[in-house]
Amino acid sequence: MSAPTATPPLLEVRDLHQRFSVPRGTVHAVSGVSFELRHGETLGLVGESGCGKSTTGRAILQLPAPTSGSVRFAGEELTGRTPAQLRPVRRRLQAIFQDPRSVLNPRRRVRDIVGEGLAIQGVGAADARAQVDQALRDVGLDPAQVGDRRPGEFSGGQCQRIAIARAMVLRPELLICDEPVSALDVSVQAQVLNVLATMRRERSLAMLLIAHDLAVVRAFSDRVAVMYLGRIVEVGPSDHIYSRPAHPYTRALVDAVPQPDPRLSQEGTPTLGGELPSPLDPPSGCRFRTRCPLATARCAEEEPALSEVAPGQSVACHYPLHPQRTPPEGAHV
Ligand SMILES: Nc1ncnc2c1ncn2[C@@H]1O[C@H](COP(=O)(O)OP(=O)(O)O)[C@@H](O)[C@H]1O
Ligand code: SF4
Ligand SMILES: [Mg+2]
Repeated sequence: MSAPTATPPLLEVRDLHQRFSVPRGTVHAVSGVSFELRHGETLGLVGESGCGKSTTGRAILQLPAPTSGSVRFAGEELTGRTPAQLRPVRRRLQAIFQDPRSVLNPRRRVRDIVGEGLAIQGVGAADARAQVDQALRDVGLDPAQVGDRRPGEFSGGQCQRIAIARAMVLRPELLICDEPVSALDVSVQAQVLNVLATMRRERSLAMLLIAHDLAVVRAFSDRVAVMYLGRIVEVGPSDHIYSRPAHPYTRALVDAVPQPDPRLSQEGTPTLGGELPSPLDPPSGCRFRTRCPLATARCAEEEPALSEVAPGQSVACHYPLHPQRTPPEGAHV
């Protein structure tokens, strides 16, 4: 699952901010998020509910456009475009969501739902029908059985398959998957993930996998970005993030997952107490400081920037847990 490195990124997100005005003030939902995604690569985006994962995914899709920052897809800037200007790109950049029923019109037949994007692209009826039938087969559904039925007749797992067919029939290069299996029964989750894994393998599809379930993200992602209250606090190769988390928050998330390997549960681990602070009034300095067992006065004053602690692994913390690049205390540099 290693990502190619020679070609320029498929997606470049730079200093993304999304703020919402609400009666009580301004929600700082996303505050300076930057990352890249390469062709065929899967980046997992994890963090507690309310930390800004979905808002990030939607801002990439320009739904709505971000308050500020840049989203470049295949070298083209998406922010500032009108809906008409976005249309040609939208085919190449598709999304599936936690609740597939939210995108499946209950009054339309499955074949029309899956073929909607092709119709918008002006694909002729006969071609569209063949592509829709193939897309349904690709997600494990028999077009003859399901094509003329309506979404209400299907289970959650089947609806998610239909939503995947609807996205994939357009042959996108990037699929944003926002909690694609978290509303499904555990037994069905693996089946839907298998469908996505097959698509990814056969089509060198890039994915942004948004999920709060670390086990799902680990199994599925080349790299993982950890979000906390609107910011990325750590990013790196999946295995490093899980085996050597450098941010106290990542460490707490990893330790909250039951560990089959007891060597990975160590004493002295920072534990995660309290709740996510309000994005209406984020803490000064490091946003994690109100819950961090390692916080010092510096953490309240100075916001830590992401900096590399190991090849490809960056962390935003003044006192990373694996400070390979930080000299020991008292050392002269
Ligand atoms: N349209 C909106 N208006 C106001 N607040 C919003 C809106 N969308 C999201 N938020 C807020 O932004 C924060 C991040 O939300 P979200 O991106 O959905 O988090 P996550 O997907 O990580 O659970 C939350 O506090 C949420 O209430
Ligand atoms: S910067 Fe300070 S408060 Fe923030 S995670 Fe690191 S030690 Fe904790
Ligand atoms: Mg969400």
